[in-house]
Amino acid sequence: MTKRGRFITLEGGEGVGKSTNVKRVVEWLEARGIEVVCTREPGGTPRAEAIRELLLAPQGDEPLDDDAELLLMFAARAQHLAQVIRPALARGAWVVCDRFTDATFAYQGGGRGIDQNRIAILERFVQHGLEPDLTLLLDMPMAAAQQRLEARLSQHGGERDRFEREHASFFEAVRRAYLARADAAPQRIRVIDASRELDAVAEQIHQILAARVGAWQ
Ligand SMILES: Nc1ncnc2c1ncn2[C@@H]1O[C@H](COP(=O)(O)OP(=O)(O)OP(=O)(O)O)[C@@H](O)[C@H]1O
Ligand SMILES: [Mg+2]
Repeated sequence: MTKRGRFITLEGGEGVGKSTNVKRVVEWLEARGIEVVCTREPGGTPRAEAIRELLLAPQGDEPLDDDAELLLMFAARAQHLAQVIRPALARGAWVVCDRFTDATFAYQGGGRGIDQNRIAILERFVQHGLEPDLTLLLDMPMAAAQQRLEARLSQHGGERDRFEREHASFFEAVRRAYLARADAAPQRIRVIDASRELDAVAEQIHQILAARVGAWQ
């Protein structure tokens, strides 16, 4: 019987370096001969990416209801799990995902103020007990992350999405909710100081991976 693959997620607020470090995690695993599927949320399949577009499009004339936002997140997740994540894990590949359900607890729970118990009901409904084996939470003060985001926008262009247009208090609440989740599940969620230079961040991530992967194999 094929051994189930491992499921690793990267989490954190806007501009903390998730996408940058996802690449490094994938390279590190592949260099050790592990088959990796690299993906992201919301999205990861064509239909789930279409839901992502709905979620990120700036508000316009019709505000998106908080519960509708929450349900769209889990609709995209159900599709992603069915099409990509579960099949990959079942054939023994590892999955590295840029954001997952911790982001829903942080943004829709912490940021929007939706009761965590209601989110947990949807988590059980959609995931049937599946959760990441390891989550790397990139944590840093919001103001510094905003500066990185500004620099990226001025270098590479693009527009702020619906979440990036939120106020400082929203992002502070997101950060607190993430850290509270890490406190509640310290074995699964490892907090990384993302304010340091990229090589120092990558080094801490490599150390965590080396310890975990050694224990798993
Ligand atoms: N440790 C670091 N030090 C300095 N700059 C960094 C560091 N990590 C990432 N960056 C830069 O900060 C910007 C944001 O990084 P990245 O896009 O990886 O963040 P993200 O968390 O994926 O953002 P988003 O929430 O928008 O998806 C990029 O321009 C990236 O090159
Ligand atoms: Mg990103």
